[in-house]
Amino acid sequence: MTTPLLDVKDLCVEFKRPGGIVHAVNGVSFSLQPGESLGIVGESGSGKSVTVLSVLGLIARNGRVVRGEALLDGEDLITMSPEELREVRGRDVGVIFQDPMTSLNPIMRIGNQITEAMLVRKLYTPTEAKARAIDLLRRVGIPQPEQRFNDYPFQFSGGMRQRVMIALALALNPKLLVADEPTTALDVTVQAQVLKLLDDLRREMGMGMIIITHDFGVATNYCNRINVMYAGQVMESATVDQLITRTANPYSLGLLESTMEIGHGKQAIQPIPGNPPSAMVVHQGCPFAPRCRYSTERCQVEKPVLRAIERDHLVFCHYAEDVMRDVTEQIHA
Ligand SMILES: Nc1ncnc2c1ncn2[C@@H]1O[C@H](COP(=O)(O)OP(=O)(O)O)[C@@H](O)[C@H]1O
Ligand SMILES: [Mg+2]
Repeated sequence: MTTPLLDVKDLCVEFKRPGGIVHAVNGVSFSLQPGESLGIVGESGSGKSVTVLSVLGLIARNGRVVRGEALLDGEDLITMSPEELREVRGRDVGVIFQDPMTSLNPIMRIGNQITEAMLVRKLYTPTEAKARAIDLLRRVGIPQPEQRFNDYPFQFSGGMRQRVMIALALALNPKLLVADEPTTALDVTVQAQVLKLLDDLRREMGMGMIIITHDFGVATNYCNRINVMYAGQVMESATVDQLITRTANPYSLGLLESTMEIGHGKQAIQPIPGNPPSAMVVHQGCPFAPRCRYSTERCQVEKPVLRAIERDHLVFCHYAEDVMRDVTEQIHA
């Protein structure tokens, strides 16, 4: 086993709100190996963004990490000062958001935004920084990068702006690239191009990558491993193949069945009945129990733990073995 690039243990994050406490992340653990691509999937509000952004110090001021560790190359991000964390973010981690305008300065030429990141750390001379910025723009697929270097963000289309943001995130050769719903705002063709680009860059540069997405299809196409999240909890963590052919958590199964192309059923897509719980509620048992076809009385009162059901396959469910047996039987039927 190599040392993980990122090792998150028992992360809990809360937000204070006028009406009470929001329990956004409730004891999440996972690790990411160097060069690996991890997808975090789940419905909106399941805690995907907060899980990753909280360890990078990028959540709103009313939120705090209540418990847990997040080791990046062995160093705990949670106990770092805001200054240290800012330094790590600049140097080791690139972050890409759904809306490029959250990262890009609208009134600064894009070339200068990219070189500025490099010059602040005095790792390059201005001439080197400019050459590198142009090279990055070329690599992310911006035509005529020498000319585009001097353009402002508004002079680019949505897809091209996303590429500029990727170039900016890559400026300092990060070890880890975090992409939070990177393509949700783009149309399907551009979405595929941008995801393919991210995947190529990951392989080329040997970065670890986390793709946060509500789209199961995106995660299965572009990631090695997937964490399925629900109510601030990891429900299942598995390789893409395990998750599709040996599904062991009823919520993951529900997500699969509601994603037509990769569903197990021969029937039409089946949405999961019911709605996700409010994050203000503290669950005694399994948070998915009220919507779960496998649930029993035990699930209402006893919270499962995330446990290994086979190698590299972790599941949060008392009845994981039953679910997996049903899935494999149905596939072979
Ligand atoms: N600043 C905030 N104040 C209060 N609640 C928040 C805040 N940011 C996020 N939350 C809540 O935390 C939970 C997890 O949010 P998030 O991680 O953004 O979900 P998603 O899975 O869609 O990325 C949600 O219930 C959300 O409403
Ligand atoms: Mg999100």
